[in-house]
Amino acid sequence: MSSSVNVANENGVAVVMIDNPPVNALSFHVREPLYEALAALRDDATAKAIVIACAGRTFVAGADITEFGKPVQQPELRAIVALLETIAKPTVAAIHGTALGGGLELALGCHFRVADQGAKLGLPEVKLGLLPGGGGTVRLPRLVGATKALGMIVSGTPISASEAKTAGLVDAVFDGDLLAEGIRFAREMAAAGGPFTPVRERNGRLAETEPAAFDRQAAELAKKARGLEAPLACIEAVRNAITLPFDEALAAERQLFLKLVSGDQSRAQRHLFFAEREAAKVPGKDPQRRKIARVGIIGAGTMGGGIAMAFANGGFPVILLETSEEALQRGLSMIEKNYAVSVSRGSLSEEARQQRLGLFKGSTDYADLADCDLVIEAVFEDMAVKKQVFGKLDAVARPGAILATNTSYLDVNEIAASTARPQDVLGMHFFSPANVMKLLEIVRAEQTAPDALATVAELARRIGKVAVVVGVCHGFVGNRMLSARGAENEFLLLEGATPSQVDKAFTDFGWPMGPFQMGDLAGLDIGWRNRKARGLTAVVADTLCEQGRFGQKTGSGWYRYESGSREPAADSDVEELIRAKAAALGIARREIAADEIIERTLYPLVNEGARILEEGVAARASDIDVVWVNGYGFPIGKGGPMFWAGLEGGARIVERLEHWHERTGRPIFEPASLLRRFAETGSWEGVDC
Ligand code: 3HC
Ligand code: NAI
Repeated sequence: MSSSVNVANENGVAVVMIDNPPVNALSFHVREPLYEALAALRDDATAKAIVIACAGRTFVAGADITEFGKPVQQPELRAIVALLETIAKPTVAAIHGTALGGGLELALGCHFRVADQGAKLGLPEVKLGLLPGGGGTVRLPRLVGATKALGMIVSGTPISASEAKTAGLVDAVFDGDLLAEGIRFAREMAAAGGPFTPVRERNGRLAETEPAAFDRQAAELAKKARGLEAPLACIEAVRNAITLPFDEALAAERQLFLKLVSGDQSRAQRHLFFAEREAAKVPGKDPQRRKIARVGIIGAGTMGGGIAMAFANGGFPVILLETSEEALQRGLSMIEKNYAVSVSRGSLSEEARQQRLGLFKGSTDYADLADCDLVIEAVFEDMAVKKQVFGKLDAVARPGAILATNTSYLDVNEIAASTARPQDVLGMHFFSPANVMKLLEIVRAEQTAPDALATVAELARRIGKVAVVVGVCHGFVGNRMLSARGAENEFLLLEGATPSQVDKAFTDFGWPMGPFQMGDLAGLDIGWRNRKARGLTAVVADTLCEQGRFGQKTGSGWYRYESGSREPAADSDVEELIRAKAAALGIARREIAADEIIERTLYPLVNEGARILEEGVAARASDIDVVWVNGYGFPIGKGGPMFWAGLEGGARIVERLEHWHERTGRPIFEPASLLRRFAETGSWEGVDC
């Protein structure tokens, strides 16, 4: 008996209770006593049945992810499951909370699974760049059929207890005292008598597999893998479950798991798992949280509407404030339209739509914001307007309310200074569309109070956002690095690349799209207006805009778009324009290789990240990775720019930056001193890549 695993005999039913907070991961100190307990109970005549259950908030949430990449300590989960399958008396997993990964695999080793009605069950290993390595790919298809299992394993998305019951994954769903129900269920099974068939021997559902349908589904899923190895390995393993004898399929799963767990992609995805959880933690003493029940949003435009929806989706009553009744109605009807689209697509029920719309209230009067606990400003990006808004807000908001700005670039210290309560002011930089995009940069101004910051970081999780605390600078972490990434774009074109070549280098790297496609999607006029306001120019992009080529919305930009299509087609007029501009500037054009495109765009991205770390604008390198993966589509299999720098090699990045710095003299290529240090140590200030 250990403190992590306790066994009790409840009138002939042995209850094996796992207790390893916070999520009952199957760490070595759980596996060892669990194996011993089960081995002893197998031969214990006083136990007529066995129930495996968990203390705390959840059933086993999986293997202990911190153990991956370290030497394996026996017994492994596979050995525990194999032992379970040698037990003749009924074994029952009683599942509450989440049975994930190795947790579900443990349950699959039992004869029966019973679940609390709020439980969720799934195999999310793919999200860590892995496949289920404890027999999940061979046992799950035997219970739910190959196609259902394939969908669950490749998506990694858990299913509800009731869906699991329908699918055949659980035998009973209970509402109430799950442990008591589990014991009763086990006793009934023991009384009914065996033999009890282990999952490994249940082949009926597998035999029903329709090979052509399976192949079609597998091909569809493989298409979406976008360079990630794990989804493909998951497909292979489930196919093995159909085509190979059980033990051979199990051995093949093991081999695939070992390959993935030691690979860079899984290392990158595990890094991101912990990075996301770390990013929301505010350094220093854990302060009290402020109460947030009502939220106000000023400005019902693109961002204000999306932010309001994000809060309503999280169950918060929202008051939207605009300058005129007309602007307010425009904003509210856009919100209504968005929800109607969700209903028509089947992603939202009619009942949920009505319930969410009921949370909105509109106003044109600042006095209506008086009882809000948090007010977020999303008005025009203009310092004078923002200051005026914060001045009015200061006059009406209740003491202790948190006042936030969604500014993309402006100085949050200056905005805070326009109030008499700078300690309550911070930035909440959402990304567009704000009800969909997961990233939230929380901007800590000089005087922001720690409890305001901690409150917003916690709140972000409640509305499904991944929060990263950042400091004040132009563009914060994300947009500032984006400028560095894009600084060479036009030079690459003038020197010989085409927009499609640059974009292809990006998509081959794993980005969902390249910078020129992205520009066309967002609208080239936005950057043009910004440049004009700041007295800047871009030789090619400015001319495109002067020609009315704003991107997808005008049917042409860097590319051409057939009417109604979003498919970019290379445009010879653009290539001609680039050649003419290059000639006028006396730039000789040459072939530009994909490697060069990556060096001149992504190495400056890493370099700017290093500067941001140096300046303390980000607290950890892993925070920068979280920003880039969740806000800008950096490929998850590469772990974010700062993790990728480790894969690429710091020394190489410095050497190439120096090369380009010497050739062009441009400051973005001048290696930051922290990057030089990284090249020597392989670590960003304690964050080991
Ligand atoms: N191993 C180690 N630590 C884990 C862990 C795991 N499997 N799951 C969660 N943790 C840690 C988190 O890092 C966090 O630590 P912190 O407090 O120090 O930051 C703490 O537990 C709490 O986690 P969350 O903040 O995520 O808690 P939530 O309540 O929001 O979510 C959860 C709970 C849904 C279980 C979520 O933690 C989760 O999704 N965990 C991962 C599940 C998973 O991927 N399982 C598969 C693992 S791989 C596997 O099983 C391989 C097998 O096939 C061989
Ligand atoms: P928008 O132009 O779509 O909406 C601004 C809204 O604010 C308009 O409806 C306008 O009527 C209203 N407004 C203006 N002055 C006001 C005032 N004094 N009081 C109340 N309402 C007022 O602009 P958008 O794109 O929503 O941007 C808003 C803010 O969000 C800006 O600071 C922008 O930099 C930032 N942002 C924008 C992103 C984007 O992708 N559009 C992404 C992240 C941040």
